[in-house]
Amino acid sequence: MGGVNDLILKAARGEATPRPPVWFMRQAGRYQKSYRTLRERYTLPEIVRQPELAAQVTLSPVEELGVDAAILFADITTPLYGMGVDLELVEGKGPVIHRPIRDEKGVEALLPLEPEEAVPFVLQTIRILKRVLKVPLIGFAGAPFTLASYLVEGGPSRHFLQVKAFMYREEALWHRLMERLTEAMARYLKAQKEAGADLLQIFDSWVGALSPADYRRYVKPHMARLFQALKPLGVPVIHFGVGTMGLLKDMREAGGEVLGLDHHTPLPWAREVLGRVPVQGNLDPVLLFAPKEVLQREVLRILAENGGRPGHIFNLGHGILPKTPEENVRYVVELLKEVAA
Ligand code: CP3
Repeated sequence: MGGVNDLILKAARGEATPRPPVWFMRQAGRYQKSYRTLRERYTLPEIVRQPELAAQVTLSPVEELGVDAAILFADITTPLYGMGVDLELVEGKGPVIHRPIRDEKGVEALLPLEPEEAVPFVLQTIRILKRVLKVPLIGFAGAPFTLASYLVEGGPSRHFLQVKAFMYREEALWHRLMERLTEAMARYLKAQKEAGADLLQIFDSWVGALSPADYRRYVKPHMARLFQALKPLGVPVIHFGVGTMGLLKDMREAGGEVLGLDHHTPLPWAREVLGRVPVQGNLDPVLLFAPKEVLQREVLRILAENGGRPGHIFNLGHGILPKTPEENVRYVVELLKEVAA
């Protein structure tokens, strides 16, 4: 990749880099002045459906912060529109599903995903980005469990009671639902790779709601099949979840070239559990609200905890929160770049 910053690709392969590459989950969003201005005119789905706009939003953190990777601007729910799901993104709340899936009819109504027909705008956004980007582009999808949690709960949830009750009550039907979502996301990610994505990340954001025993029984086989389906694509895949310390070993076994660590997971502990597997993380997003000296101390602590081992992608433990001061995000990037100097 002549002239292109490929730090993240090297780190994802476990190769040594002069400094850890850095990007942020949710690096495009409401904490940015530029994004808030755009959102006065367009809703999130309107931005996502206009490739020129979606590409511009994807590029903004690369230009404003100097991060080492771009992440496609879309939402984990974007492909669900193409699967016959009636959903809405509610400001300050998240995705709301108007007819939650609770029975066989609901599962059967979930259509197979044909990415070129259902989400041509996502693929077009990737093609536009590939012409202008000087850093690698991350494509992404929600993991089957995390998507199922929205589809069954009908929206964001605290206890994940409905989705877990469904899983326990209707095990065979649950596996059918997971199979459909696995198949759809495998196709979606493959289409993103073919359009030009250099890496892929799978967000299993809410899987930490499960015990390790439940993860193994109800989720892990589907994740293993998803990663198996992605292997032939030949791009690194980052496997991320929140509250997943107790699941980390099983998540690694399920697959992914890189494991995402949340901020509850001590990095040295993860290194021990994972061996030589590259990791991504894991600054607490709330530290971006802390005074500079505290923020600096914690960034340096994470670097020290990694101890210069190859295969570290610097990131947060979860996404950037709305109202995060932009200058603090920029400061973290500068700090990482100073470390190399
Ligand atoms: O910069 C990036 O990271 C790329 C864009 C991106 C968005 N959503 C845009 C978005 C990504 C990677 C996502 C993933 C996503 N969406 C996840 C997984 C990551 C995570 O945080 O665990 C989840 C669980 C969702 C579901 C979702 N969509 C939630 C919980 C929300 C927030 C609701 C709110 O209003 O606070 C959304 C909406 C959403 N997706 C926004 C953005 C920028 C909010 C801003 C807006 O409404 O314009």
